[in-house]
Amino acid sequence: MNIIMRKEMSEASIMNKEETERFLNTIDLSAGIPLTEPDRQYYFLRKGRMLVEQKSLAKGRSLTAHSECFGCQMNARDSEKLTGMLECLGYTMTDREEADFVIYNTCTVRENANTRVYGRLGYLHNRKNHNPDMMIALCGCMMEEPHVVETLEHSFSFVSLIFGTHNLYRFPELFVKAWEADSIVVDIEKDNSRIVEGLPNERKFPFKSGINVTYGCNNFCSYCIVPYVRGRERSREPDDIIREITAMASDGVSEVMLLGQNVNSYGKTLDTPVTFAKLLERAAGIDGIRRIRFMTSHPKDLSAELIDVMKSSDKICDHLHLPLQSGSSAVLKAMNRHYTKEQYLGLVDMIRSKIPDISLTTDIIVGFPGETEEDFRETLDVVRRVRFDSAYTFLYSRREGTPAASMPEQIPEETAKERFSRLLAEVQEIGQNVTSRHTGTIQEILVESVNRQDPTLVTGRMRNNTVVHFPGSSDLIGQYVPVLLRESKGFYYIGRKYN
Ligand code: 5AD
Ligand code: SF4
Repeated sequence: MNIIMRKEMSEASIMNKEETERFLNTIDLSAGIPLTEPDRQYYFLRKGRMLVEQKSLAKGRSLTAHSECFGCQMNARDSEKLTGMLECLGYTMTDREEADFVIYNTCTVRENANTRVYGRLGYLHNRKNHNPDMMIALCGCMMEEPHVVETLEHSFSFVSLIFGTHNLYRFPELFVKAWEADSIVVDIEKDNSRIVEGLPNERKFPFKSGINVTYGCNNFCSYCIVPYVRGRERSREPDDIIREITAMASDGVSEVMLLGQNVNSYGKTLDTPVTFAKLLERAAGIDGIRRIRFMTSHPKDLSAELIDVMKSSDKICDHLHLPLQSGSSAVLKAMNRHYTKEQYLGLVDMIRSKIPDISLTTDIIVGFPGETEEDFRETLDVVRRVRFDSAYTFLYSRREGTPAASMPEQIPEETAKERFSRLLAEVQEIGQNVTSRHTGTIQEILVESVNRQDPTLVTGRMRNNTVVHFPGSSDLIGQYVPVLLRESKGFYYIGRKYN
């Protein structure tokens, strides 16, 4: 039976909802628990669905689930996978936290992400007092920190399930375990080498999606906790990625975002190594895909080959997110970033010489241990020279266990905050200027939603990722519309449909 299942499962990564549904119904729970993945998880999806169905019958209503994501695009993609599995289990998804099953996919990149989760848990505890059957699950990066799990077990024992970033694929099995257990189930897997393909997942938008290309990170930037909580870098097989994008395209997706902590090192450790540029070329060959984005690019691994591929394909969007972190070569060294200020500027020159109109965005950290006023001015200098379209600016956050946490010269909060405000003012002024350069031009906009503040407008994005609002209605969602950019409002435009 397993062999037949495996055969079917090899097609599972391209199963749509109806096919998944049909497949689940063929699973015989009396035939024993499969030992191989993803067969094992499909078995537990079937079993979990039975449990949910029984409870729903007893309550006389369908059960609801709420999934909330803190953190980056990787987490957002993981949350889509969780939503896909929760729907398969028979839950109706809801935006409200008053649900029968609530799952938080947590982030721990900066301390305030942790603080937010603890705060929200207090509120959930109160909800659970009203609905004792409520299940609360926590997963994601924060759960990979042993001290967090310890705190949760001691002080938040009303939580039903805790799991980490490496065993998300086992959610159906853990769900059943938690359903049947009397106390908190904790499952943090140490082995992070595994990539399981072919589980159901859901997309927030029907017309665009993220796709994982690598998991984890090997760079160990000295301030960053990601390599500790997401594990070593693993690349997915190119054929699996291409098959997934092809299936998405036939399901109506036209824009994809390839995701990895450092996409530029994609494929280096595969049995048959392949470059990220080659993967992009293959993705660009898929019918139905009109826009390809990717993030994040580490400057130390960015190749001229990649920029050439971007230039040669109309489908690859002219936007590059290239985290600077600091403009000071001394700070960059302490950060373990493996490039200098001059090398970063040289890279920007190379990119702009090949693709002059490219949009460049970045991440910058202020207040890294030992950062002097002089170092900070180097950062301002790079910002002024590069003229980023936009920059995410962060106050350095001390993460226990990282090398920077034990560096001697931690910067006083007031000094860091004062530099942060100066940097923010600079990046905003430049960003508004740079972003407005397309005023008066006609751009192709992929419409994403009806505008929340003004329902007579729709909101979409240019190829370079800039947001545009223009008069229109919901029937435009998912469509590519030529729009005249009438007015720049800083980081976005107001336009009108051009015909
Ligand atoms: N403190 C502040 N910012 C951080 N980042 C990563 N770790 C930290 C930290 N400890 C920022 C980096 C990274 C982005 C995703 O988060 O700028 O590029
Ligand atoms: Fe963190 Fe550096 Fe890896 Fe990015 S490249 S996830 S900043 S360690």
